[in-house]
Amino acid sequence: MLILGLESSCDETAAALVTDKREVLAHRLARQDEAHRPFGGVVPEIAARAHVEALAPLVEAALADAGVTLADVDAIAATAGPGLIGGVMVGLVTGKALAHAAGKPLVAVNHLEGHALSPRLADPDLDFPYLLLLVSGGHCQLLLVEGVGRYRRLATTIDDAAGEAFDKTAKLLGLGFPGGPAVERAAKDGDPRAVPLPRPLVGSGEPHFSFAGLKSDVARKAGKFPAADLAASFQQAVVDCLVDRTRIALGKAPQASALVVAGGVAANGAVRGALEALAGEHGLRFVAPPLWLCTDNAAMIAWAGAERFAAGLTDPLDLAARPRWPLDPDAEKVRGAGVKA
Ligand code: KG4
Ligand code: ZN
Repeated sequence: MLILGLESSCDETAAALVTDKREVLAHRLARQDEAHRPFGGVVPEIAARAHVEALAPLVEAALADAGVTLADVDAIAATAGPGLIGGVMVGLVTGKALAHAAGKPLVAVNHLEGHALSPRLADPDLDFPYLLLLVSGGHCQLLLVEGVGRYRRLATTIDDAAGEAFDKTAKLLGLGFPGGPAVERAAKDGDPRAVPLPRPLVGSGEPHFSFAGLKSDVARKAGKFPAADLAASFQQAVVDCLVDRTRIALGKAPQASALVVAGGVAANGAVRGALEALAGEHGLRFVAPPLWLCTDNAAMIAWAGAERFAAGLTDPLDLAARPRWPLDPDAEKVRGAGVKA
């Protein structure tokens, strides 16, 4: 089975061809860093226009790389949300048009489901259920992944996502954009114990996250300490929060057979190392996708599409894009939580 995947929900435009045998035949990606850099963050309107320009050539290039045509594809998977609505619409409409033109089924993929299932593309031995720490620029959640389409949210952030905190810290410290990799690089030359910073919610009985207070404290201390020490201390504080919160979630998910991390922040070496140690303490396997599969890409969308298609799930061509789309709509509302799903 061969699936074409499309991704355009934030600032990466991507197309990939993946088989149900876990072969990534092609994956093409265009970043928009240069377009957003002057603004220090992603500008939705600029992102949507860039997706329009980039997507069709990327699809053609991916098909050429794989040496196939649309006729060889079994289904077309496109991110249908959550994300920046303009970008999501570009990818979804493109997916619908290709599906209609080639007479192929459309599989609408939740971007978060793409991240959640991506570790199974990388690791054939990863079976359900597993505990997933999903840490990206827009989300910070702990999910029990019970099967395709079956996600139980055990925790979420009550304010910022971890990646957002990395991005804002990078901005405060003048480290540039995108922020996560810049903070990680700066942290290599700093002392993680040099600057006292808070660990919001650490020690609380529910595994939720909060990063707004940490970010504000970095803002107060910026300029008063060397940037490398601030970056290292910030990164350590995030790691401590992620590990403590994940430990609480593991206590609530004894059925989990592995600890898995996915999403852009999973590309961070300190985060990966600390979670691997935590899994070891619990005698659990630790699975983290390769770095290119952690940050946004279309292979994870194609793979989630393959898993959904194999389960008999396809979608109508009049399906609407969903800027908000929680993976677990039944999850309890968190007291004090903002608008993030
Ligand atoms: O999954 P992703 O590519 O897009 C979203 O769906 O949000 O995640 C992007 C986020 C950004 O906030 C970025 O700063 C962060 O992941 N990130 C990192 C690293 N690489 C990317 N954060 C910390 N360390 C990294 N090496
Ligand atoms: Zn993402």
